[in-house]
Amino acid sequence: MSEESADPTHAHYGRRFRLAINTGGGDAPGLNAVIRAVVLSALNRGWEVVGIRRGYDGILDGEGVVLLDRASVEGITHLGGTILGTTNRGNPLRWERTLPDGTVEEVDRSEEIIRGIQDRGIDALVAIGGDGSLHIASELFDRGLPVVGVPKTIDNDLAATQLTFGFHTAVQTATDAIDKLHSTAESHERVMVVELMGRHTGWIALFAGITGSADVILIPEIPYSMDKVCEHLIAKYETGPRYGIVVVAEGAKPEGGEPSLVDPGEGTSNPRYGGIAERVANEIGKRTELETRSLVLGHLQRGGQPTAYDRLLAVRFGAAAVDLVARKEFGSMVALVPPDVQAVPLEDAVKKLKTVPQDSDVVRTARQLGISFGD
Ligand code: F6P
Repeated sequence: MSEESADPTHAHYGRRFRLAINTGGGDAPGLNAVIRAVVLSALNRGWEVVGIRRGYDGILDGEGVVLLDRASVEGITHLGGTILGTTNRGNPLRWERTLPDGTVEEVDRSEEIIRGIQDRGIDALVAIGGDGSLHIASELFDRGLPVVGVPKTIDNDLAATQLTFGFHTAVQTATDAIDKLHSTAESHERVMVVELMGRHTGWIALFAGITGSADVILIPEIPYSMDKVCEHLIAKYETGPRYGIVVVAEGAKPEGGEPSLVDPGEGTSNPRYGGIAERVANEIGKRTELETRSLVLGHLQRGGQPTAYDRLLAVRFGAAAVDLVARKEFGSMVALVPPDVQAVPLEDAVKKLKTVPQDSDVVRTARQLGISFGD
């Protein structure tokens, strides 16, 4: 992807090529680094760049687009969040509108988006997002929008890329938190149960559980038995040290049971996970009589400065996305296929969720260290 297109400034458009960027879904550390890399790479080709506010809201709700010049992306690589804003509420292709009689109908707003983008003289879009946002990008491509995707999510659950940016930072944040739990757990001889994000997959919990030296890691891919979890903790208390660290992914579920969900609230039909740490802690306390506490790390995992690794990945993704636009390889996504960043079809990237393989070397490593998955 290092080759230039035959016509790098796209002079045949009769004006400067205009590239748009948007960020969709939950924020992730590294978004600003991608934005800066896209802007600089595009400006260096003689293009113009605009940012669409809050996903597609800038087009749909008249919030508009903002011109992104060098000054507007100065000093943002290390900042968490996204200077463009984002949303994970609603899908513009299946927009829920409440009718006067109270019934809800789904509206496809793809034409409005595509027309709005054309009316603003935008020639191509770099859509930075996770599973949901890239699905939308893929559908918009099918309907004629020249779009290239950049995979983002702390969950690391996108197929076709070994890593998404944001994941490394989330794992570091979770590891730092678990490190701090050890001393308080040990001082009080308590079991601490910490709930980590990850939606339907257990990548963050698995990685941070190992790096944070947990005793038990519970992930959605390996349904757990409460008996096994308690046996493991009792055995640890017998041999010492007399405390326990249980890392539970928010989507974990007991054998034959369901994950713990909370009301997703207005504007989304996506399931929202929550409550599993409390549930697991209560069960441990009841069955073992060990003093047990739970906590939810929550959105701290999405905040803060991206790690150097995530910054580099984000910058590589941003520059590669501009390369793809220059080559008119629309309908594709940049992906980490070690050792390189490569292009993969957007469609493939969103076709299936990347779950933790139960026989992966990371799971095997944890088992060899004596970490229990409750199975
Ligand atoms: O997809 C990223 C993520 O942080 C998930 O890990 C989590 O389940 C979800 O978003 C939380 O979303 P919200 O910001 O709507 O609470």
